[in-house]
Amino acid sequence: MRPLRNRLGPLLVVGTVFGALVLCLPSVLGLWGLLDGVDVLTLTFLGLLGAAVALLALGTLLLQRRVGHLSKSVGTAMETHSRRVTEVLGGDRLETARALEGVQERLSDLRERALPRMSGEIRHAIAAQGRDDYEQQVAWTELREYLDTAAFMPPLRGWAASPDVLRVLVRHIDRLRPTLVVECGSGASSVWLGYALRRAGGGRLVAVEHDARYADLSRELVTAHGLDDIVEIRHAPLTEIPATTVTVDGRERSTADLWYDTAVFADLEGIGLVFVDGPPKATGLQARYPAVPVLLPRCTEDVVIVLDDAARPDERAVGERWMAEHPELHRTEETAEKGAHVFSRKGS
Ligand SMILES: C[S@@+](CC[C@H](N)C(=O)[O-])C[C@H]1O[C@@H](n2cnc3c(N)ncnc32)[C@H](O)[C@@H]1O
Repeated sequence: MRPLRNRLGPLLVVGTVFGALVLCLPSVLGLWGLLDGVDVLTLTFLGLLGAAVALLALGTLLLQRRVGHLSKSVGTAMETHSRRVTEVLGGDRLETARALEGVQERLSDLRERALPRMSGEIRHAIAAQGRDDYEQQVAWTELREYLDTAAFMPPLRGWAASPDVLRVLVRHIDRLRPTLVVECGSGASSVWLGYALRRAGGGRLVAVEHDARYADLSRELVTAHGLDDIVEIRHAPLTEIPATTVTVDGRERSTADLWYDTAVFADLEGIGLVFVDGPPKATGLQARYPAVPVLLPRCTEDVVIVLDDAARPDERAVGERWMAEHPELHRTEETAEKGAHVFSRKGS
């Protein structure tokens, strides 16, 4: 569209010429004597007024047309813009809808498969935990009553042995009446085993402990329960031993190269019961393995060796090695929350 300035140019020229004629005509008529002075002035004024009105009307008309054009082009531009906005938004909405579809699929998979499976597993785990708690409570009560312990006993479970494995040990103490029991790893169990020996009417317990601080704590517990004549806590720092290479999950690995200083066992003969509950797992792979090779030669023929935590693959592997290297041994798996394997010589 042509700019308004260009379109007004010719009109202004025509208007100027017409205006000049209108202004000149009364003067010319006045000069010819056809009009007097007042008429000339009146006509000139009227001519100017008419020209102004005509120009104003013309300008208004042109402005109206211009505004019409402008609003049309604004309308078109807005339409184009809104179409593009709609296109862009439409694309985004499509992507969002696809993403939402994926989320919905995963949600329905969660709802229909994963959640029922997980809630089943949780229910199962809670039920198993409830059974374990009940079993330990029963075993603890039985032990307390049977051993006629003091009112305040060192707590079991957690880092300490569980009541169910202690009940297994107490039964063997009652059956074997061992004169000497050795425990690898001292703690709460040392006190409970002391009570078991006192009830059995004889025998003593030597509990070896690698950690001097825990050796002192265990000693204090033993003294507090008046069991010093039955239980001896021996501090046995971990010392280097040759490591072996074993295969775990298809990978070759080195076993722990530390175990109790064997000097602490030098005076121990005729061991009738061994409770293997140390050194801690953190010492290294198959940390409890040396117990049998070191202690078996010092044991009675009818010795019973109880390996705690046998539910753990590492302790199971220890048991497997003992069985492979000592064909004279027989193994029984006791039901216990942490797993308890009992080894004895065949036929004893
Ligand atoms: C598997 S725990 C079992 C100790 C012991 N046989 C018992 O059942 O109480 C092995 C190690 O725990 C550590 N221990 C002893 N008393 C402890 C206590 N009060 N708190 C945490 N750990 C302790 C000792 O170093 C011990 O050798």
